[in-house]
Amino acid sequence: MSKKYYITTPIYYVNDVPHIGHAYTTIAADIMARYQRLKGNDVFFLTGTDEHGQKIENTAAENGETPIELADRVVVRFQELWKVLNISNSDFIRTTEARHKTTVNELYKQILDKGDIYLGEYEGWYNVREESFITETQLEEINKLPEDKRPRIDKIKEQSYFFKLSEYQDKLLEFYKENPDFISPKNRLNEVVSFVEGGLRDLSISRTTFSWGIPVPDNPEHVLYVWFDALTNYLTACGYPENIAEYENTWPADLHLVGKDILRFHTVYWPAFLMAAGLPLPKKVFAHGWWTVEGEKMSKSLGNVVDPYQVAEQYGVDVFRYFLMREIPFGQDGDYSNGSLINRINGELANGLGNLVSRSLGMIEKYFDGKIPEASDFLEIDKEIEKNALLTAEKVEKEIENIEYSKALTSIWGFIGDVNKYVDDMQPWTLSKNGETERLSTVLWVLAESIRVINILINPFMPETSELISEKINPENNDSETVNFNDSKKWGIVKHGTTINKGENLFNRIQ
Ligand code: ME8
Ligand code: MG
Repeated sequence: MSKKYYITTPIYYVNDVPHIGHAYTTIAADIMARYQRLKGNDVFFLTGTDEHGQKIENTAAENGETPIELADRVVVRFQELWKVLNISNSDFIRTTEARHKTTVNELYKQILDKGDIYLGEYEGWYNVREESFITETQLEEINKLPEDKRPRIDKIKEQSYFFKLSEYQDKLLEFYKENPDFISPKNRLNEVVSFVEGGLRDLSISRTTFSWGIPVPDNPEHVLYVWFDALTNYLTACGYPENIAEYENTWPADLHLVGKDILRFHTVYWPAFLMAAGLPLPKKVFAHGWWTVEGEKMSKSLGNVVDPYQVAEQYGVDVFRYFLMREIPFGQDGDYSNGSLINRINGELANGLGNLVSRSLGMIEKYFDGKIPEASDFLEIDKEIEKNALLTAEKVEKEIENIEYSKALTSIWGFIGDVNKYVDDMQPWTLSKNGETERLSTVLWVLAESIRVINILINPFMPETSELISEKINPENNDSETVNFNDSKKWGIVKHGTTINKGENLFNRIQ
């Protein structure tokens, strides 16, 4: 059995319903999962929900419900959204599941046996919203913020189990040095390195002043720190420790995709826990940037939270997926605005891809009775299109591998622009009028072949659109199971004589 390609999203808190930030990470992971499948790899794609901790306990209490009632109610919102957005996850983990408790207990026991856990007392500050312990310096920074921007910080003093994080400072620094691709993008690596160089203190990993969590093995007065619990989900879902064969075939993760807000948990705590337990470390953690909405931080109090259901319903799922991935370079921060969304729909989608497909197929219907004609002598300009197609496919492949999604889409749309220009230059309608049937055949064949290539390249980003195009260009043989990314790097596959079906427009212009 060859090892699976294992990709994860963060597991999202169930204290709130999903918004575009959650959709963003999950769509980004879905694109990689789909791409890897198109490359012929066996993929394990995990997402899920983080259901324990003080924040969930507090929110449930505020709502007058139990934490599990809250979790059961909100988890459905995530699961349904992922269906709507065509997320192809292999599993969905909830940290309240029995399988997860088993894994958390086992990881704890491994670290305890190693001698890296001890009982002490924690006295200090806690940020409930972030579920994180705060140093004096961080507290000073927070107190400098305007009052309405300050998160609530609680003072806590309680008995606690500690993980000997301080012992891992050098080991982590060495690991980052030996694995320079572990943290991406590069500027994030530098951030983490300077944080670790600044010194690591032992980490409190249990609490006694609330109860919604996994009890500490052998001391149920304590519940485990929610981040110890949450990070372990990545091991639970691949079978550790009970299904060793599955675990060995899946772990370590190839890619943990996270937002920049939780990079430290994934690149400091998580590898240190794994080192202590003697388990292999994930290959890569990629932290993407932050969305604001119409220039402002998204927040419930501002009432500007973008609802992914609503956008997908109004404009279409693939429009939403496309916009999120195209609008900002993956890794950087960016702004969500309706104006920009509509510009991209009208320009790149309706006028760009949509128009190319509808006019090309329209001419095949009109001039050749809906059958792709045969190409004969290729001119220089046809060969130019072939060359661009091959270059584009190679480039897009590299860009997706580097998680440069916006660049990949820019490359694909560059080619779409080339092909649209080819139509304008060739003027097939004039060729038809002049009776130049052979030349017309060749031009329309080149268009059909270009659309075939484009359709493979957009497949991971816009699976629904890609399927629609397949049904148009090859209605009798459009099995989506057989799409192979490497076919985008070939030219000459489209068969003349294939019956097409122009059908409806792919995208509607927005007034
Ligand atoms: O942190 N822009 O869960 P969470 C971009 N349970 N991405 C955003 C975003 C925004 N404005 N807002 C949220 C947790 N995200 C923990 C994770 S993992 C073992 C435990 C995305 O519900 C982004 O991926 O607060 C961020 O990292 C994640 O949602 C935080 O989700
Ligand atoms: Mg958060």
